[in-house]
Amino acid sequence: MGTGTARYVLLLAARALLVSALLAAFFTAAAAEYVRPPPGRIILTEHTEPAAHPQQVHVSAVGANHMRVSWVTDDKRVPSVVEYGRSSRNYTASATGEHTSYRYFLYTSGKIHHVKIGPLEPGTVYYYRCGMAGREFSLRTPPAALPIELVLVGDLGQTEWTASTLAHVGKADHDMVLVPGDLSYADAQQPLWDTFGRFVQRHASRRPWMATQGNHEVEAPPIPSSSPPPPFAAYGARWPAPHEESGSPSSLYYSFEAAGGAVHVAMLGSYAPFGAGSDQYRWLARDLAGVDRRATPWVVVLLHAPWYNTNAAHQGEGEAMREAMERLLFDARVDVVFAGHVHAYERFTRVYNNEANPCGPVYITIGDGGNREGLAFDFEKNHKLAPLSVTREASFGHGRLRVVNATTAHWAWHRNADAESVVRDEIWLDSLAANAACRQQQGGPAAVDPWNDEL
Ligand SMILES: *[C@@H]1O[C@H](CO)[C@@H](O)[C@H](O)[C@H]1NC(C)=O
Ligand SMILES: *[C@@H]1O[C@H](CO)[C@@H](O)[C@H](O)[C@H]1NC(C)=O
Repeated sequence: MGTGTARYVLLLAARALLVSALLAAFFTAAAAEYVRPPPGRIILTEHTEPAAHPQQVHVSAVGANHMRVSWVTDDKRVPSVVEYGRSSRNYTASATGEHTSYRYFLYTSGKIHHVKIGPLEPGTVYYYRCGMAGREFSLRTPPAALPIELVLVGDLGQTEWTASTLAHVGKADHDMVLVPGDLSYADAQQPLWDTFGRFVQRHASRRPWMATQGNHEVEAPPIPSSSPPPPFAAYGARWPAPHEESGSPSSLYYSFEAAGGAVHVAMLGSYAPFGAGSDQYRWLARDLAGVDRRATPWVVVLLHAPWYNTNAAHQGEGEAMREAMERLLFDARVDVVFAGHVHAYERFTRVYNNEANPCGPVYITIGDGGNREGLAFDFEKNHKLAPLSVTREASFGHGRLRVVNATTAHWAWHRNADAESVVRDEIWLDSLAANAACRQQQGGPAAVDPWNDEL
């Protein structure tokens, strides 16, 4: 193990040099556009327990009443078993799942366990133990009906800034965390996926975390290779999505229902093909067509590279996807679209096709979780979309979408610089399903109106 580790460290060092050279070249090229603040200190979270004990524990929702428990062990003999129950240390059920691992050049991951537990009661605390070893964890299942509180936070990383963001998230109750991409910022240094898993465990083992991919999940090999690891090797192995449950052929895009079907959340893949003939496009069209807005008054979409953005950072990067897919979202009367990628906060008014439109989604960029790259300060005053941008600020923070009932939701952005009680931006939202004028337009004048029987 000693020599292997030493060799690995050498390789890491060599790769880090190469990566820094590439980054330096990149930032010199980009320096003319905007300047980011100096990097935040990375927090490297160690595993100090025995090798059989669980680490990097996180949970995600699978279908209406199951949860997936994911964790890693260095000890390959640990069984993929989760024991659980409604009172501490009294496990009345257990489930066996699967395990995987992956290689990335000289790095080999630990044993990555995924175990689906349930059926579970909604809004209920369960105590659980992973792999029949180590400490007990607990989680709370999401509610079966409204209200529901969704935390949104993108571009996390694992710095002091991220720690501050998660501390704020943890200060107030919530039911679920939605991440519009960019988790670990490992950037091919695979041990950073392990430290990230440990870093977020305190939060991600208690409430379901649902993510979609960002550019930092792709991890194209930083050095040429005859047999390169596939894209999304780490992300796919560690943060699986319930895509089969929503008829999606790829874990890079999927959807799920929350609050007993009152909220439909579609997770899109900015780094999967999205053009008109693509699998993702066809899946999204089917997925949105399957939403009955009488039963599901809220539809929320997450993706990584924002379609609307007045920041100099990543300007125009979401444009091709917007051109390909915006009509689908507009016709489906999607209520809110959340993006990450730009390390700042920005909220637009309701928009369709670059114009204010009362039947279009509200677009919100929430890429301000706190990663090591820092903030994107340069909002363009004269950007053609600036008149549609209601609030924009380069500060770290997180957002909360509290869906109160079928017609009303409250959105709030919490800036890390403030105490939790201070809300920097907020808005009450009315569901577009409750908006008669928007309903009538749906699908265009020639289309059959699915609400006709009501009108
Ligand atoms: C364990 O849980 C079961 C089911 O919830 C309950 O009936 C039983 O009394 C509990 N036992 C202890 C020792 O708490
Ligand atoms: C929904 O919640 C809002 C805000 O609390 C409230 O004003 C409204 O009356 C509620 N609507 C229904 C139908 O309960």
